[in-house]
Amino acid sequence: MTEPNNSVLVLICILFVSATLFVSFCHKRSRSHRLPPGPSRWPIFGNLFNLGKMPHRTLAGLREKYGPVIWLRLGSIDTMVILSSRVAAEFFKNHDLNFVERTITDLMQSQEYCKGSIALAPYGTYWRVSRRLLTADMLVARRLNETAPIQRKCVDDMLTWIGEAASTDKVRLGEGVHLARFVFLMAFNLLGNLMLCRDLLDPDSKVGSEFFEAMSGLMEWSGHVTIADLFPWLRWLGPQGLRRKMDRDMGKAMRIASDFVRERIEEKKIGGNDDRRDFLDVLLEFEGNGKDEPAKLSEKQIKTFILEMFLAGAETSSSTVEWALTELLRDPNSMAKVQAELSRVVGSNRKVQETDIDQLSYLQAVVKETLRLHPPLPFLVPRKAMANTIFMGYDIPKNTQVFVNSWAIGRDPDVWEDPMAFKPERFIGSKLDYKGQHYEFIPFGAGRRMCAGMPLAHRVLHLALSSLLHEFNWEFDSRIDAKTIDMRDRVGMTMRKYVPLLVVPKRRAM
Ligand code: HEM
Repeated sequence: MTEPNNSVLVLICILFVSATLFVSFCHKRSRSHRLPPGPSRWPIFGNLFNLGKMPHRTLAGLREKYGPVIWLRLGSIDTMVILSSRVAAEFFKNHDLNFVERTITDLMQSQEYCKGSIALAPYGTYWRVSRRLLTADMLVARRLNETAPIQRKCVDDMLTWIGEAASTDKVRLGEGVHLARFVFLMAFNLLGNLMLCRDLLDPDSKVGSEFFEAMSGLMEWSGHVTIADLFPWLRWLGPQGLRRKMDRDMGKAMRIASDFVRERIEEKKIGGNDDRRDFLDVLLEFEGNGKDEPAKLSEKQIKTFILEMFLAGAETSSSTVEWALTELLRDPNSMAKVQAELSRVVGSNRKVQETDIDQLSYLQAVVKETLRLHPPLPFLVPRKAMANTIFMGYDIPKNTQVFVNSWAIGRDPDVWEDPMAFKPERFIGSKLDYKGQHYEFIPFGAGRRMCAGMPLAHRVLHLALSSLLHEFNWEFDSRIDAKTIDMRDRVGMTMRKYVPLLVVPKRRAM
């Protein structure tokens, strides 16, 4: 009986001494370094318990007490959180370069993913080359225009799937379909066509469905924070089993992507399919200057690039369209306006075309208002301080992680009137857009590391939402209505509706 009691006593003593040392270390450090204010922290865990289940909301709530820049310690990670548009402006205008690096999580090191990723690449040659390829060679207006028929086909496929679902008895009797799933499949297939000239969702494509399965796993796992991120010294325990699952699905997705790349290299050798040129060809044909740029991209870099496009583009797009339809169904007035605009501009004899988007100003306002209230990445992709930096009079140590809370900034009461209300009209006649110049509205981020896929996302969001609204009238599933619908969100890889939107589509009389 005495032995276990002694061990417990020893353990308590060790914990007490470590806690005391830790607290006194923190005090000393905050006396010598001026850090932003923030809630007091627990030994070892720091402010982990301050995050709550929905950190973007909980942290936004701390602004009243601590102001618009706050300081947290999450496990062992120093973290600065930005909560207002004024501070975001200072951050992006004057300190973008100081905070241009990314924090790399344990899961993102799986199969060395982070080494070929653009989003996680250190600020250097590989990042510059791959970002230029994406923004200047792949997602430029000319190439996007060339691929307009592919975009249209993928949206049409989605409308067909929804039309088939709409004609089933269950849906006719009021049981809603899971809208985000259809939009996700469309976005996934669209990216597959642009990147690889492949219909990955073709029911006959075995490799397509294996790839889809592995990528869905990756998206699921990569939304989690692991204990290894917060307490790196516990990495060896492999806690939560997440890393194992991530390694499995990442390995599978990488293997399939390798096969796509090798197949293409073989095809090129025998000169097949010369008239077709997709993003994979752009990557394979890249020739750097061989001095400050690599002469070629490695196979590993190319396959990671491919995976990243799916990770970055599919869920962000489906979540935005889901929120847009949810908000419109809660606000019949806005729904009537957007559908009237579609009838006026597009009419009833044809489908919406990409070229209509410029004239659909109310639809554009709906997309902006949705992204203001529901940015899919509420903390953007977290940044990291490259070196010790003085920011707004505070001493921010090297490697500090930065959360720019675009969810809170989109609701900043200093710049937004009636910030919690869904009012697309606020964007009508306004020059405010999401191209990274207006710091009160940054769903795609800003500065050097702003979203590189924004031009494609812009097209996909407008084309998908307008087509859904032009083709169908929508009602809530018969078990919910505008008052009872659950508007909570959940943060995984992106911020999605906690309870998926279930809706009943009814073909519009044309
Ligand atoms: C609704 C759709 C989308 C939203 C809201 C979104 C949002 C974002 C945000 C907030 C960031 C981080 C920006 C920052 O740190 O300042 C980001 C980065 C990025 N996004 Fe997107 N994104 C979307 C769609 C896409 C698509 C379709 C692609 C490509 C096919 C893409 C590719 C990327 C890449 C490569 C980065 C990393 C950029 C870098 O670190 O240099 N995104 N995105």
